[in-house]
Amino acid sequence: MYKYHCLNPIAKVGTDTFTGEYEETPEISQADVILVRSASMREMEWQEGTLAVARAGAGVNNIPCDVCAEKGIVVFNTPGANANGVKELVIAGMLLASRDIVGGIRWVEEKEGSGNIAKETEKAKKAFAGCELVGKKLGVIGLGAIGVLVANSGVHLGMEVYGYDPYVSVESAWKLSRNIHHTRSLEELFQDCDYISVHVPANEHTKGMIDANAIRQMKQGVVILNFSRDLLVKEEDMLEAMKEGKVRHYVTDFPTPMMAGAKGAIVIPHLGASTEEAEDNCAKMAVQELRSYLEHGNIKN
Ligand code: MLT
Repeated sequence: MYKYHCLNPIAKVGTDTFTGEYEETPEISQADVILVRSASMREMEWQEGTLAVARAGAGVNNIPCDVCAEKGIVVFNTPGANANGVKELVIAGMLLASRDIVGGIRWVEEKEGSGNIAKETEKAKKAFAGCELVGKKLGVIGLGAIGVLVANSGVHLGMEVYGYDPYVSVESAWKLSRNIHHTRSLEELFQDCDYISVHVPANEHTKGMIDANAIRQMKQGVVILNFSRDLLVKEEDMLEAMKEGKVRHYVTDFPTPMMAGAKGAIVIPHLGASTEEAEDNCAKMAVQELRSYLEHGNIKN
């Protein structure tokens, strides 16, 4: 009998396939296997004999992987399972940065009850005018499950798309996303693109990769999108660049204290994977991975 513990209620979806040999425990300290979404496991006490942790999502920063490696605890994630949900929010982020949809909606809300709204609409048209995505250059850094979807969506929106990923060969990247330009140089992508979207894992190599030096190489008025992890961007440098107008908007799915309310920042409360479909896919995949490991010894992802 294996005991499992769910740290986030959403990770429970899919545990109905835990039949027979599985039993839920309310105590993490008694669990053989742990299912987690975004809760941090760093300060938690788990039992010595924990066998595996499954993260219903892509990033594993909330799990102390080094400790798990030392103790022989297998850590799974669910790459790709929420990619579509994240991609759709990235596209929404690009649209929010190009058209002042939020400003326009707020303007209408403030006019509630005013009989003049139709007359005043002409003013709003001027105040909230934006620009189109068609013909603009989109740079996608990281061509994993999400990056490839974002790149292909950019193409469908009529954008000229550049992809950069040092770990993917040009041939295989080309197969994944035929209509994008593959570049081997991050500098080239920085210099050419109007929109830059980052889709790489956060680690010691990528931490702070979007800093003053990177931003200096970018176009005036660039829009930067970060739906990966806040650590990838040096936020002090980003604030400075937005003040100077070098960065028109920084669209981020990470509501850090520094970015909340900052002028030019469009901050979303980590909603990329918050769709019914993505939550279901991740939770089910996490359970499948645990079962496959416990019942057959398979280790994938
Ligand atoms: C991820 O890494 O995939 C996201 O953080 C998912 C989530 O919101 O749980």
